[in-house]
Amino acid sequence: MNWPEHGGQPKRIFELNGIKNDDRYFDFSANINPLGPPPVLKEHLVEAYNQLERYPDPDYREATKLVAVHEGLVQEQVLLTNGGSEAIFLVAQQFIGKKALIIEPTFSEYERACQVYNLSVTHLSLQLEHNFSFPLEKVLHKIEKVDVVFLCRPNNPTGTVIDLEDIKALLNKGVECQTTIVVDEAFIHFLPSQITDLAFLIDTYSNLILLRSLTKIYAIPSLRLGYMIARPEMITRLKRNQIPWSVNGIVTALLPNLFTQELFIDGTKAWLQRQLKVLTSELSRLGFFYSPTLVNFYLLRDQHADSEQLFRYLLKNKIIPRHTHNFKGLDGHYLRFAVRSEDENSYLLKTLSRWREKTW
Ligand SMILES: Cc1ncc(COP(=O)(O)O)c(C=O)c1O
Repeated sequence: MNWPEHGGQPKRIFELNGIKNDDRYFDFSANINPLGPPPVLKEHLVEAYNQLERYPDPDYREATKLVAVHEGLVQEQVLLTNGGSEAIFLVAQQFIGKKALIIEPTFSEYERACQVYNLSVTHLSLQLEHNFSFPLEKVLHKIEKVDVVFLCRPNNPTGTVIDLEDIKALLNKGVECQTTIVVDEAFIHFLPSQITDLAFLIDTYSNLILLRSLTKIYAIPSLRLGYMIARPEMITRLKRNQIPWSVNGIVTALLPNLFTQELFIDGTKAWLQRQLKVLTSELSRLGFFYSPTLVNFYLLRDQHADSEQLFRYLLKNKIIPRHTHNFKGLDGHYLRFAVRSEDENSYLLKTLSRWREKTW
């Protein structure tokens, strides 16, 4: 089957599976904030209407300054991008024809960006049999043989987080053998507050590049905004290859209002951890395996049944999971679910419970 590369394509999934659905459905396949955009955004979006007729500042000076202040950095360490995706491709472009390491299963765009820019890619895999734990020793061993390592923290699709100490060990080794470590922090805002992001390491490690996305936490995938944090020389090089005006002026006009949404982010974190508690305890009770996630999505597997059958059963019940056919090492054997609203999560659990009654 010609599975779509990403989640959030419900119509295509129904069509591909030959299931007619003109009715309501529950899309668990896209992992954006289930609480939706911050409510004040609508008002500010109307105000930003007057930006439509203007070209944005090609250097995004004000927006870049805002990001820098927000992160406690200087402007020269920041590059605004059209979502996290543009950032991934800009990074890969810096390493044309060189060697990359990707730890699977992870976001498929690292591999695609490497293919586009002709990087040769080596893969290592998370230890599936040990709850997707990070294979530190193997990665340390491989680092000296590659020019760039792509890491995703928290990782899509497992929701797991590489320990800070492991990250430091990789960075130190990277400094020794001149390997750049790229850490995609697209889902960082969903983590419990005691887990820190990595921006504080930027001044210490010249081989670190951080990728951020604001489309996930603020639920604005149509507006699209991301940024990169790296040392100034690297930012200058990355910027040289960026398409002019690649970030739209509407989203940069909204940025000051996004960065004041701390309560919204804290509220999302607290709400999410409560939902995860309910979900994981019920999934355990029903005997499903799930990845030890800390964020707004998780992998699920029914060890007692075929995942294709479970997928179709859920579709027939109007639930759309994310297939895992294009996640290396998962090959469709798991399903990824976003954490959705309380009612939707509860509907999912009830539907899984009925499935369990059928299979046991
Ligand atoms: C890990 C990861 N990084 C980056 C992105 C791209 O995000 P954006 O919508 O900001 O381009 C995604 C999108 O799913 C993702 O899962």
